[in-house]
Amino acid sequence: VYRRVYVRTYGCQMNEYDSALMLQVLEEAGYLAAESAEEADLVILNTCSVRQKAEEKVYSDLGRLKALKRNGAGPRIAVAGCVARHRAEQILAAAPFVDLVFGPDAIPNLPQLMERVETGADPVLATGIPDRDQTPFLALSRVAPRQVSAFVTVMRGCDRFCTYCIVPYVRGREVSRPSDAVLAEVAGLVGRGVREVTLLGQNVNSYGRGHAGEPDFPTLLDRVDAVPGLDRLRFVTSHPHDCTPALMERFASLERLCEYFHLPLQAGSDAVLARMNRRYTAADYLEKVDYLRRIAPRVHLSSDLIVGFPGETEEDFARTMEMLERVRFDSLFSFKYSPREGTRAADLPDDVPEEVKLRRLHELQARQDELSFQSLQGFQDRTVEVLVEGTSKRDQHEWMGRTRSNVVVNLAEPQGSPAVDLLGRLVDVRIERIHRHSLHGVMVGSPR
Ligand code: SAH
Ligand code: SF4
Ligand code: F3S
Repeated sequence: VYRRVYVRTYGCQMNEYDSALMLQVLEEAGYLAAESAEEADLVILNTCSVRQKAEEKVYSDLGRLKALKRNGAGPRIAVAGCVARHRAEQILAAAPFVDLVFGPDAIPNLPQLMERVETGADPVLATGIPDRDQTPFLALSRVAPRQVSAFVTVMRGCDRFCTYCIVPYVRGREVSRPSDAVLAEVAGLVGRGVREVTLLGQNVNSYGRGHAGEPDFPTLLDRVDAVPGLDRLRFVTSHPHDCTPALMERFASLERLCEYFHLPLQAGSDAVLARMNRRYTAADYLEKVDYLRRIAPRVHLSSDLIVGFPGETEEDFARTMEMLERVRFDSLFSFKYSPREGTRAADLPDDVPEEVKLRRLHELQARQDELSFQSLQGFQDRTVEVLVEGTSKRDQHEWMGRTRSNVVVNLAEPQGSPAVDLLGRLVDVRIERIHRHSLHGVMVGSPR
């Protein structure tokens, strides 16, 4: 009999990648993937602790899973990811029915850990951070049926220590993955039908640092871009301090690298940036953006911003709003500051009242919504290449995909054309309507 496993993923793309690795390791040990927690013999929550809200989600989901565990029956329950690493004792205290708590570095041992769960009475813990370079990177070869797009880890951990951020504590020191392994993984995924790859790291610009003989990140991009059969290449995330002209020049020179750049700014005030330990000023950031727009004007720029960092005054916040006007991001992710125990900012008073954080967040988002909408206007009546990822959320008879600049497009087939299976195909789409956060158009020509 097969055991069935269900993985629920929270947080960033690193966790999505890790979840795919967990499924791969468990499938190799004889498990099958389940469609829901109710159908599973093992439920894994792959958690995120970047903000308080993300962390609380785990406890509410555990509360719900408890109902499945009545009378000693029900699935085994495991907690993985960043909260597991950081809060193992609290998890077991709040949810004593949890069977296993494990950190990202324990993924290769998952089958052995499950054996210990099955043979012992107590919950099993595997949350340590091993020494740098001790755990090899696993190779991901698993693709879901008809998967179009995949993540590929190029490094783990982070050495930046932005003062608000928990990631360096829960993910450990930065380690780059050998470039040969990255290239082999990309080639393998492409061989299994994947057309788009996103390279992952918390700060990809420091790729290769401290690893003799390895290329730097722009050179790695050159090599991945040349993998035969790959159609689209993306990467996240870049830290502005380490963002070099050589990196930005790749947007002009590489054919598959898509015109989308995520460059988190975090704040517009130099005083706040300094307290965040970001090591650049607003002027430094603008200089990089100017260079990018000069050499690669079609690149869509997105960013992350935090409001209500300790000591953020109205004047500081006005600098953030000013950056929206000066940079004109095409899209933006924005967050209220959330103190994380153990970080340096947690020692500063969290002195911006909740209602002020909320007001600033709303003001920021309202203005960015207008700017994002203006950016989308540029697509009207243009024909753009879309990689089809699935069906539209609103209308199951329509397809959904993304432009190279990462904008969602819902598309109809031209009237009278026979229904074609477009999943995983590259199609040219003529944009006819602009919505708030997406585009709508009609396919022209034939899919590739
Ligand atoms: N390594 C990436 C981002 C990791 S976390 C980078 O450097 O860009 C993703 C985003 O969450 C961050 O860019 C930041 O905007 C936000 N974030 C991180 N810690 C936070 C905190 N304590 N409170 C609010 N937002 C936070
Ligand atoms: Fe966190 Fe900064 Fe590292 Fe990004 S670069 S993961 S924000 S410490
Ligand atoms: Fe969250 Fe961990 Fe990613 S804290 S954002 S899942 S690295």
